[in-house]
Amino acid sequence: MAEMVMPLEMAENETLIEQEATAIERIKQIRPLLGDDVVILGHHYQRDEVVQFADFQGDSYQLSREGAKVDAKYIVFAGVHFMAESAVVLGRDDQAVILPNMQAGCSMADMANLEQVLTAWSELEDVLMDDPENQVMPITYMNSAADLKAFVGEHGGAVCTSSNAQGVLEWSFAQRQKVFFFPDQHLGRNTGKKMGIPLEQMVLWNPFKPYGGLTDDEIRNARIILWRGHCSVHQQFRPEHIDLWKRHHPDVNVVVHPECMMEVVDKADYVGSTSYIVKMIENAPAGSKWAVGTEMHLVNRLKNQHPDKMVELLSPFSCLCSTMYRISPLDLANVLENLTEGRVINQIFVPEDVKRNAKLALDRMLTIPK
Ligand code: 13P
Ligand code: SF4
Repeated sequence: MAEMVMPLEMAENETLIEQEATAIERIKQIRPLLGDDVVILGHHYQRDEVVQFADFQGDSYQLSREGAKVDAKYIVFAGVHFMAESAVVLGRDDQAVILPNMQAGCSMADMANLEQVLTAWSELEDVLMDDPENQVMPITYMNSAADLKAFVGEHGGAVCTSSNAQGVLEWSFAQRQKVFFFPDQHLGRNTGKKMGIPLEQMVLWNPFKPYGGLTDDEIRNARIILWRGHCSVHQQFRPEHIDLWKRHHPDVNVVVHPECMMEVVDKADYVGSTSYIVKMIENAPAGSKWAVGTEMHLVNRLKNQHPDKMVELLSPFSCLCSTMYRISPLDLANVLENLTEGRVINQIFVPEDVKRNAKLALDRMLTIPK
């Protein structure tokens, strides 16, 4: 098998576009050689040049479900670091999860670390310890490091994604009075608001201030304590963008991701995860108009796939997830080529104790009805 594979050597004078074209051709040659040993999972935000090779494409929730079912020896995750970590947690011990580019992280996930969350938790316990009727459930968004998922698992909580956040919050409130939600304030606030929780009962925890910058009363009266984190891509969409679209195209439909700020979500016609957005556009009638508030690679793909509909990015500026973008066809070719030669590179590892507790939180999520 290995002798059929030509090494991935780039001519020195090739431009990046030419190098990527060469890499794409290499992937087309190599991929069949690896057969069922490899499964490539791709998030909707990946560039077309990469996601075209995905055996399964989906949103974070679908990819974690799919990842848990995969039988292959190698799972190549064309997504970001926290997604690959979740695949390790849900996968078997004899499977290797590979992230084609180790720099593909998530700026939102980086906005909360274990030390900060442990500090916050002990401060919350300090304020609430005399009040057994006012207990907190930790809930972490999928977009978080595995050690935070483990913390949540160990403390009875669950992971949520943008497609099941309401179900997970309902599950939480059935057991405890409050939710401590990290790291995305917007998903937490938008979901809480949809459930009818008043804004004044959703307080913002600033991890850089003692007690999150909140008074004891604010903590005691809160239903949801929201971590001060956000997605740098979705935060770029503004309510004014919706006004502009509606002014020029009164018949436009606005659909946005729930990582957008509340003022945008409130003005949008539809709100949902990336898969929700994909289905919405797929099922829309020909001739309909859509302004979409999510990552631009997905929006451009939808625009190209549906030339009979008007599909445009909600913002006049590029909204690109620069970390997802770090995975290039060169990276994918590189990891696959190494696999054909029996070398596993860029494998993602999660320590055993973290894996065990993170699995509790992910398994709970997977059993909560959407
Ligand atoms: P979903 O895949 O849950 O829609 O989330 C989007 C996202 O930000 C992935 O990082
Ligand atoms: Fe993270 Fe936002 Fe990129 Fe998703 S889109 S991976 S939340 S930075």
